[in-house]
This record gives sequence, C-alpha cells and structure tokens, in this order.
Amino acid sequence: MITIGMDYYPEQWDESLWEADIAEMADLGVNVVRIGEFAWCRMEPSDGLFEFEWLDEVIKKIASHGMQIILGTPTNCPPMWLIDSHPEILQCERDGRRTYPGIRGHRCQTNPVFRNYAERIIREMASRYGGNSDIFAWQIDNEIESNHCTCPSCTAKFQNYLKRKYGTVVKLNRAWGTIVWSGEFTDFKQIHPLTTMPVNKSDWFNPAFILDCERFASESTAEYTAFQANIIREYDPDARITTNSCFGDRFQDFREQFSSLDVASYDNYPAAVVPEDPEEFYSNAFALDFVRSFKRREKKFWIMEELAGPMGCWGPVRPALEPGMIEGYALQAVAHGADLVSFFRWRTASSGAEMFCHGLLDHNGRKNRRYLELKHLIGRLKNYPDLEKTEIKSEAAILYSADAEYSFRSQKSDDFKYWTQLRLFHETAVNLGVNVDIIRPDDSFDGYRVLILPAYFVTDPSFAQRAAAFAENGGTVVVTTRSGVKDIHGNCIMFRDLPVGFTELCGCHVEESDAVGTTARQSVRTKEGYVFRAGSWCDIVVTDNAEVLAEYQGKYYAGAPAITRNRYGEGYAYYIGTVGEKAMYRFYLHELFFQAGVRMTDTFPEGVEAVTRTGDGKAYTFIFNNSPKRKIFEYGSGKLDMKPLEMKIVETMDES
Ligand code: GLA
Repeated sequence: MITIGMDYYPEQWDESLWEADIAEMADLGVNVVRIGEFAWCRMEPSDGLFEFEWLDEVIKKIASHGMQIILGTPTNCPPMWLIDSHPEILQCERDGRRTYPGIRGHRCQTNPVFRNYAERIIREMASRYGGNSDIFAWQIDNEIESNHCTCPSCTAKFQNYLKRKYGTVVKLNRAWGTIVWSGEFTDFKQIHPLTTMPVNKSDWFNPAFILDCERFASESTAEYTAFQANIIREYDPDARITTNSCFGDRFQDFREQFSSLDVASYDNYPAAVVPEDPEEFYSNAFALDFVRSFKRREKKFWIMEELAGPMGCWGPVRPALEPGMIEGYALQAVAHGADLVSFFRWRTASSGAEMFCHGLLDHNGRKNRRYLELKHLIGRLKNYPDLEKTEIKSEAAILYSADAEYSFRSQKSDDFKYWTQLRLFHETAVNLGVNVDIIRPDDSFDGYRVLILPAYFVTDPSFAQRAAAFAENGGTVVVTTRSGVKDIHGNCIMFRDLPVGFTELCGCHVEESDAVGTTARQSVRTKEGYVFRAGSWCDIVVTDNAEVLAEYQGKYYAGAPAITRNRYGEGYAYYIGTVGEKAMYRFYLHELFFQAGVRMTDTFPEGVEAVTRTGDGKAYTFIFNNSPKRKIFEYGSGKLDMKPLEMKIVETMDES
C-alpha cells in the first residue's frame, strides 16, 4: 500500500482540538502523522528543562487511532532563550551579518555551541521515543539547505577542509591556479568562505575556489545530517531516518547528504497554476526523478510535504488549487517512485508568516472540496494494494554531476542552464513513455542501454573511460556540448581537443565554439532534410571517424557538422554540439531509443508523460497530463481522453 501521511503541528493548536483532529485524520484514511519539526521551545522551554508530556499525549492519541508517527527533530528553530544566551549560533549572511532571530532555518549547522544543544535535545527525544513501535520514521531538521554560512566556526571548518584536501597552500595554489591576479595564499587562514566580498563582484572570484566552496558547503551539510542520524541510531538502531529536501539556491549534493540516511524524501510543491508554457510542463517530473536519484537507483522515496492548498508564504498569495490538482500531483509523485505521500498540512495556520499558506482545511475548519478530493484519492489508491512492491526499472539514464551544477552557477553563458540541458533529454524520454534514471558519475551502468551525458563539464577521466567501455559493449552514449571542458579542480584542460576524454569515443572534436546565446538565430539541418532551431551554444565540430547527422545553417560556419554519430565497438556514440528546440531531441532520442531496443510509445501529445512501475509480474503505467489542455490521443488499441492534471493508471502484465 502507498502510505498516506498528514503534517500536523499540535503545538500550534489548543489541546482541546487534538482528539478531534486526529480522529478525523484517521477517518480520512491517513496512516502516518508527521509532527515535531518546529516545536523545540515547547519541548525545552528553558535551558535543560524538558517537557515531553504533551508530545507523549499526542503520540498516544495518534496511535490509539491506528496511525503511526513521523517524528521530526526540532533543530531548525532554536528557542529564543538559546539565541539570547548564545547569539553566535545564528548563521552569518554573505556580508558577515548575523541573521535575525524569530525566523527559521537560521541556525549555523557547524557552530559547536549549537551542536551541543542540538545533541542534547535529540538525545532526550531518541531515548524517550527510540524503539517505540508507534514511531514509523524520524525526520531530521527541516529542509536543510547547503551550508553557506560565513561565521567564524564555518570559516575555520572551511580552512580545515582545504588543509585536509591539499595539505599545503602551495599545492592549493597550484590546484586553484591562484597566480592569476596575484591571488597566491601563504597561509590557510587567509582563505574565507565565498561571499565576504560584495555580491556584484562575485563573478570575479576564481571558479576553482568557488567549486571548493560549494563542495565544502555540501559536505558540511551532509556531516550535519549524519551527526543527527548517528545520535538517533544510538538509541534506535533500526530507525528509519530521512530529511525533507527542497531545491533552494545553491543547493547541496543530495546524494552525499542522503548517504547517511535510510530514505530519500522531498517536499513536493508543483506549480499551483498549471503552466501554459510548454517549457515548464515537465519540470515536476524531472524534480521527482531527480529525488529518486538521491539514494542509489533501486531506491524509492517519500514525500514529506505534498501540496494540499493554495500557497502564500514565500511569495504572493497564490490562486486556489484547480480541481484534480491534489490527486493528480500526488499520483505523479507515486508514479515516479514515492511510496509515501504526506500532505502539508492538516489545518491552515492562524498566525505566523504562513497564515495564508493553506493546508488541507481552511481557517473555517470545514471539510472542503480539497478534503473530498484527498478522500477520493485515498479510496482510489486502495485499488492498487501492490504498488509499494513495484519499482521503476529504467533502460535509459541521464548523468547528473554536482560539480557541473556548481561550476555553471558561477560561469554562465547567455541562455545556457545546466538543469535545462538535463531536462531537454528527460522530458523527451518521459513524453515517449521511457523510464529514465538520473545517475551520478560513480553509479554503475548495469541494466542501461542508453547513457546520456548532458554538459558533463567537470570531467573525471575515469568516468570518460567507463562511458567508452559502455559503448564498446553495445551501449549508446550521448555526449553533448560543454562536456569534457574542465579538470576536477575546475580549471580548463590544456592542449587537448574538446570534448576532452570523449573525442575518440565520439569520433569527432570541436574546432571552435560560438556562445550565441539568444543573440543570433541558428539552425541545423539533418541529413534527412529536417530543420530544427538551435542556439545558445554551438560547437563547430570536425569529424574524425564519425558520421555527420546534422549541419549548421547559419553564420560563417554554415555547413559545419553540429551533430554526429560514431560506431564504437558494438555500440554508438552521439555528439550533440548545440542546444536545439524540443523537436530536435525528440527526433534523435526516438532514433536512438529504437536503435538501442528501448521500448517506447510515440503517441503521447505534448504535455503528457508516462512512467511505469513494475513488480510481482505486474506493470502499472501512469499516464499524466501535465498541461492545462484536454488531450485526446491513441494509446494501445484505443484512445485516451485526458483532462488537465488527470492521471490514468493502466495495469498490465509485466513483459520486461
Ligand atoms: C516548506 C517547509 C514547510 C512550509 C512549506 C510552505 O516546504 O518545510 O514548513 O513552510 O514550505 O511552503
């Protein structure tokens, strides 16, 4: 069974409401209630005085209604008495100023004083509730963002990180190439985390330095997460531990963060206004597949917060949810691998910054339209009791590199975004009904037929060798522009042709590149005579062994190869030297999926996606209409007619 959860903040409500709230959640069909994440000041109202009786009572009530609990550690919001006595536990901003108390997520993840207090409250909780069979799982903190704090504690930690990594400043200087602009360090103490300079000069920083800043921030967040998980495990070795992720600015390497946790999870807030822009149709599908990659590919994930009402906190108050949104988006999460979906939140807050960030119930507390829709969804899921036993098996994989992500944050060319490069391939695959995994450079390629490497910018030579071996043994590899550009320190590679490491595999090299951005129109003409708009970045390709699939049509390099294919061993390598319109990706993915023997469906119209979960001899194909328009199309031997945000689940025998 897919587990249904509800986010609940009992500390925000008069206790006379608890019993009825909990009984109504059980009546709705909720299985787990997620509590605790922001309640530190009620758990420890003053230094060392712990009050858990209220939480005991809530847990008992939830259990008495046959539900379990996801218990959050409250470290996201240190209580005011702690900030008052130790203001140094607050994070520092880019300019070194401390954040203002009274908001949240403003604790410094590394500060030793904060760590002591955090450890103490987690020990209190874990010794009290660890091993309690009513606890379904633990959630660490809340939406832990990458540690970009600039306080003295983080500065010292950053310097130690660099010492560990490079040993001496001489080696660091060499690795970073600090000779440019007289930037050679003579002591690690001279190096401060990024952001102590005015923001508008941030493009002036050495990209190799920025890359290590981002890596440090990520590692430090992973270490904070593991610190909490290890304490809980001391008391409850079998605990299932997760943390709810979100994609903020400059986010961390989630694979690294989740390595100490048991389950990946995510806060799923898709666009509450169905996008008219086809560019956005598949953004949520990509986010969900990305979350599935946080643990290795056979793992699935949970949703800790699922959209249940109109938003209205971090931006303007948003429109009402369209009918079908709650059900459609929740099923989309299940389609992409969620086994648990917990809705945010039971009741809308009446005070605080989120009083217009709606939960399931509005302020009037009535069982409204959204409540009835969720009830319908829970009823519908009962028809699929075996879903949890199924998994997503993919024959295609798209490589995600955290180093590429970090590096493109600081050195942008006009109109070139790393995620967009991944998404162009991803959306084409899901629109063809092809399951696709997002993988990391050190993941195994077993089971895949097609490996797509969009903008693999910071290149590890051993990865390039593995990709070549994959093609040699019959796989299809797709390499794109902006690959093989930098070494692992983030510096450009000298005296080699681009894409460095992949030229032999691709049977071609790049002679010159034209970062056209949006300034010039460019197009490519395929050997079959089709013309696709292209632009953003154009590599002028020279073939060594490869066959030319498409040529540029404009500028001084009209007639030069843009897209090539090389037979390599038993397999193929494609080089896509530019960024094209969607139809171009569809054209080539259709061809290469067919050639590689990947099964697909080519009748889904724009905006429709399909993902298949298989297991126990059964296959469940989830077909979802992401668009704001009704879609009617051929499917199998019949026709499907789908409303916006409608999900159809087609059950068949597993023939894979
Ligand atoms: C995040 C947080 C929640 C809440 C929602 C509302 O996901 O985890 O506590 O603030 O946003 O948008």
